[in-house]
Amino acid sequence: MASFQKVFAIFVIISGSCHAEDLVSYDEWWGPEGSSTENDTSIRPFTVQFDEDIITDLKYRLSHHRNFTSPLNDSAFTYGFNSDALQSWLTYWSDTYNFTERETYLNQFPQYKSNVQGLDIHFIRVTPEVPSGVEVVPLLLLHGWPGSVREFFKAIPLLTAVADDRDFAVEVIAPSLPGFGFSDAATRPGLGSSEMAVILRNFMFRLGYSKFYVQGGDWGAYIATDMCTLFPKEVIGFHTNLALSLSPVSLGVWALGSILPSAVVDSSVQDRMYPLLNIVEGLLRELGYLHLQTTKPDTVGIAMSDSPAGLLAYILQLFSMATTRDNNNKADGGLTDTFSREELLDNLMIYWMTNSFTTSARLYSETFNIRNVKMGIYAMPTSVPMWSVHAKNELVYQSPTVLKFKFTNHVHATILDEFGHFLALQAPGVFAEDVLKAITAFRNCSINNICIRAS
Ligand SMILES: *[C@@H]1O[C@H](CO)[C@@H](O)[C@H](O)[C@H]1NC(C)=O
Ligand SMILES: *[C@@H]1O[C@H](CO)[C@@H](O)[C@H](O)[C@H]1NC(C)=O
Ligand SMILES: *[C@@H]1O[C@H](CO)[C@@H](O)[C@H](O)[C@H]1NC(C)=O
Ligand SMILES: *[C@@H]1O[C@H](CO)[C@@H](O)[C@H](O)[C@H]1NC(C)=O
Repeated sequence: MASFQKVFAIFVIISGSCHAEDLVSYDEWWGPEGSSTENDTSIRPFTVQFDEDIITDLKYRLSHHRNFTSPLNDSAFTYGFNSDALQSWLTYWSDTYNFTERETYLNQFPQYKSNVQGLDIHFIRVTPEVPSGVEVVPLLLLHGWPGSVREFFKAIPLLTAVADDRDFAVEVIAPSLPGFGFSDAATRPGLGSSEMAVILRNFMFRLGYSKFYVQGGDWGAYIATDMCTLFPKEVIGFHTNLALSLSPVSLGVWALGSILPSAVVDSSVQDRMYPLLNIVEGLLRELGYLHLQTTKPDTVGIAMSDSPAGLLAYILQLFSMATTRDNNNKADGGLTDTFSREELLDNLMIYWMTNSFTTSARLYSETFNIRNVKMGIYAMPTSVPMWSVHAKNELVYQSPTVLKFKFTNHVHATILDEFGHFLALQAPGVFAEDVLKAITAFRNCSINNICIRAS
């Protein structure tokens, strides 16, 4: 196995020797033609405002839906969101969810907008007050789909806390991805993950940071991975709760590992990777939305921007499944076993109010396409120090042996025996502690960005 890996490692080094940064434009314009924002570098304060008309319209739609088709007996969530479980959510959203209070909640952190490449980017920025001798380090925190910055609200105070045993404190910068929530969407095709990586790097430059840490899960992880590949000098460390290498070598090693799993993965987590056929079959069963959004995001988007009941069912079914597959067998999808109704509805409000479902879903079609495959960024290795945390019920697990063909500097993998895909929302304490440990390790890397693999 060792010599086999060496051959592949050489292949990876050769294939990665062209310059990733030549593949993308650094200043592509995504806003409307002739926009007056061309030279606007201002950073403007922003507050979330729930528009009265939108709330009135939302309540009307929530109470005027047609009768839903009854679920098949005992099907729980296996056919999708169970319609018997839906009404209580719609009533809660319309009658119990306190719009005034939630608006205040969503405004608890300083928020801003700044225009990058034609798009207003919304972001939360929390800068800790530190005593002398404590360094403030910037962390770009990236959410995914169907999430939002709301996923991080409980983790932000933990991440930005000042502690006696740390010589640094984290400044959190959490943007809404372009096309998501309060950030503008592209007005022309082509804004996929690597283009977002460029926007976010330019965005960090705007805030005055030429070097920074990045954390991401879901799409945040995918985009951050592209940032590591394109901008290894700017990203000084990458923490992820969804470490994923789509490098053909990684996928090949994963597949070959079927013959001898113990050569690829530790026995304690072997069931997270093998039998491969079970893993693939499980993903095919759950990730239909991914194919749909990769091909026809605008069609499903029409229904989602017209019906809050539809939007709720579509998005919360994924929160249910991605937290643990066992939820498929629960009559209510197990949603409130893990999350409060408020936090899930806050996230939905961000999609509904801004009518951003369609533009957010387009990220799939703008990334998983021939243009991106030809660009080949996903196959190029990066030496940016990477630290991963692996929740038990995360959608995919790849072992360090598989990941190293993409992340040549994988510092550490934290294995968790519980929790799911939305780790920052579900377990903010565990999440924040792991991120802080990673940054501590990154700070101890040598100045040449070379990290020694910790045990
Ligand atoms: C932006 O600045 C450039 C260079 O100074 C100038 O040519 C251009 O007209 C400016 N654009 C706008 C919209 O003001
Ligand atoms: C919808 O359901 C209600 C209550 O079960 C029933 O009275 C009503 O006739 C149904 N409406 C239609 C259009 O089927
Ligand atoms: C489904 O369940 C209901 C209520 O328990 C029962 O009356 C009905 O006969 C069941 N239908 C089928 C097809 O099993
Ligand atoms: C909603 O929250 C606000 C602020 O906390 C409070 O003043 C108001 O009474 C609440 N409304 C309802 C209907 O509970």
